[in-house]
Amino acid sequence: MDFIIQKSLKLVESGLVPDQAIRAAIRALSKKRLIQEGRYDPEQGAQRYMEVLNMLKHSEIAIETDKANEQHYELPTAFFQAVLGKRLKYSACFFPHEKTTLDDAEEFSLHIYSERAQLQDGQHILELGCGWGSFTLWMAERYPNAKITAVSNSATQRKHILAEAEKCHLNNIEVMTCDVNVLELTKNSFDRVVSVEMFEHVRNYHKLFEKIQSWLKTDGLLWCHIFCHRFLHYPFEIKSEYDWMSRYFFSGGLMPASSTFLHFQDHLELAQHWQWSGTHYEKTANAWLENMDRNAEQLKPLFAKVYAQDAEAWWQRWRIFFMACAELFGFEQGQEWVVGHFLFKKKAV
Ligand SMILES: C[S@@+](CC[C@H](N)C(=O)[O-])C[C@H]1O[C@@H](n2cnc3c(N)ncnc32)[C@H](O)[C@@H]1O
Repeated sequence: MDFIIQKSLKLVESGLVPDQAIRAAIRALSKKRLIQEGRYDPEQGAQRYMEVLNMLKHSEIAIETDKANEQHYELPTAFFQAVLGKRLKYSACFFPHEKTTLDDAEEFSLHIYSERAQLQDGQHILELGCGWGSFTLWMAERYPNAKITAVSNSATQRKHILAEAEKCHLNNIEVMTCDVNVLELTKNSFDRVVSVEMFEHVRNYHKLFEKIQSWLKTDGLLWCHIFCHRFLHYPFEIKSEYDWMSRYFFSGGLMPASSTFLHFQDHLELAQHWQWSGTHYEKTANAWLENMDRNAEQLKPLFAKVYAQDAEAWWQRWRIFFMACAELFGFEQGQEWVVGHFLFKKKAV
């Protein structure tokens, strides 16, 4: 069986299989995942949910962080500049209209974030998992008297943000390269902690929320954006060749459920919850793929430099990765896998 799977994957990665067939296979695998995780079987679903919840509670804050970082976040920034929108937002964007462009969808998302996180000028804001600074630079521009501390585990991201800040004469940003597992910050010093699509790299929310609680001021808030399933949570694990996503793109990652954080309220208390249909992520990932294909000529030499003899396979792997995101979040018109936003108040402990 493993042999057949390996052979089929090799074929898919060769670039010889049409995208439509790859997308159909991804939809079939998504359906299979729902069945395996107990989506249609209440008894099995509850049992699996509790198993994963207990695993999260006994984990490190985040695992396999070096591997995940290497897989994704240390690729040359030029790749992301050619693929993402203008603000290099590497996360789901909001498309209110059929004709919304990726650049506009990035802007719409950032406006929604600032409103939901109740951001104001003059605040001290911590962003966890800042990527290439989409939200950090936006906040720094919009709130000149705010002080933004941005954290990610990627050195190339820091370099990019600092260069952009200098170019735009923004002097209210500090960027730290640090794994969240070992991040230490001054207690009671932040009005807001915000995070966009980093908590899917986290396992133990009890430990993370305890740290965030200690960093927030008394009336401080945590606001975060995650992708999630509406009911199920499951880890990305390399069990066989079959678990392609975990192997190449998301080692140590988690698909949280909309309800996962509700079990971790010892230090923070849920104040508000919102959801976007998965179709917003579908549109985002399809736009990334379109950009990648359009810029193939410029990007292929970069792949040759980074991946050497594996460049062709990796080219196709990135394409499949974007298709997988689009198909997963577009599944059943975006009603299964969605985007969740959460606002938490600091609890007095
Ligand atoms: C999907 S990207 C999102 C980036 C950004 N928030 C955005 O929306 O464009 C996830 C971010 O989390 C960071 N990250 C992942 N695991 C981390 C860890 N263990 N410690 C610190 N940062 C981490 C990555 O480097 C990256 O910046």
